[in-house]
Amino acid sequence: MDLKGKVAIVTGGNTGIGAGIVLELAKRGANIVIDYVVNPQATEELEKKVKALGDQVIGVDADVSKVSDWQALVDAAVKQFGHLDILVNNAGIETRTSILDTTEAQYERVLAINLKSAFFGTQIAAKQMIKQGKGGRIINITSVHEDWPMPNNIPYCLSKGGMRMLTRTSALELAKYDILVTGIGPGAVATPINRATMENATLMKELDTTIPLGRMAQPEEIARVVAFIAGEGASYMTASTVFVDGGLMHQSPGL
Ligand code: BGC
Repeated sequence: MDLKGKVAIVTGGNTGIGAGIVLELAKRGANIVIDYVVNPQATEELEKKVKALGDQVIGVDADVSKVSDWQALVDAAVKQFGHLDILVNNAGIETRTSILDTTEAQYERVLAINLKSAFFGTQIAAKQMIKQGKGGRIINITSVHEDWPMPNNIPYCLSKGGMRMLTRTSALELAKYDILVTGIGPGAVATPINRATMENATLMKELDTTIPLGRMAQPEEIARVVAFIAGEGASYMTASTVFVDGGLMHQSPGL
């Protein structure tokens, strides 16, 4: 229970990797703020599970691509729990579009939800943590695609590449406040973002063959690493990304 009494915000927290993170942080004793924009029922279900683990939880409907919603989200956390210790910038979408067919609206939406939200979340949460004077943890859920190009998913790759530099640069700026900033880069995970692939047996087979561990990850396999990074064990870790990808980034045709 190394996160006992800590307060964590998880953006995009009622589904996919986010929901896995909520449960894993709660298992280690943290009180949780679940940020979400759709599907309030899923938030309520998850709240019940967190309470069953003995922790406190609130759900906040906030669109983290808007700075005003971010301030309201952090204010709600502090009003409820008195402090904020951990921020997980997890909210993310992808369009699976190429440089030749991505529209202005698609570009702006992906960059706003994935990158702008993490930028201003870091800013607003860091100001709160600095005011508290006890440091903090900011964890950015990026992707292997913060580094690794994915043809026909280019706005997503740009946003994750941006999160890579957000992690590194904000970590250096915030180090003097003992606010540690780390990226977690998942590979392919069994979540709604990959529904189309998961529903296509041929694509799944191709994907499983490409991943050295031979399968997609489950959300909790990413979440357990997030919980470690949020805890005391990771007290000297900042400004870099941990890839949790079953070896995907380093797969080699062996030619
Ligand atoms: C993307 C998935 C992709 C996976 C592995 C993830 O970040 O969201 O669409 O399958 O990376 O390439």
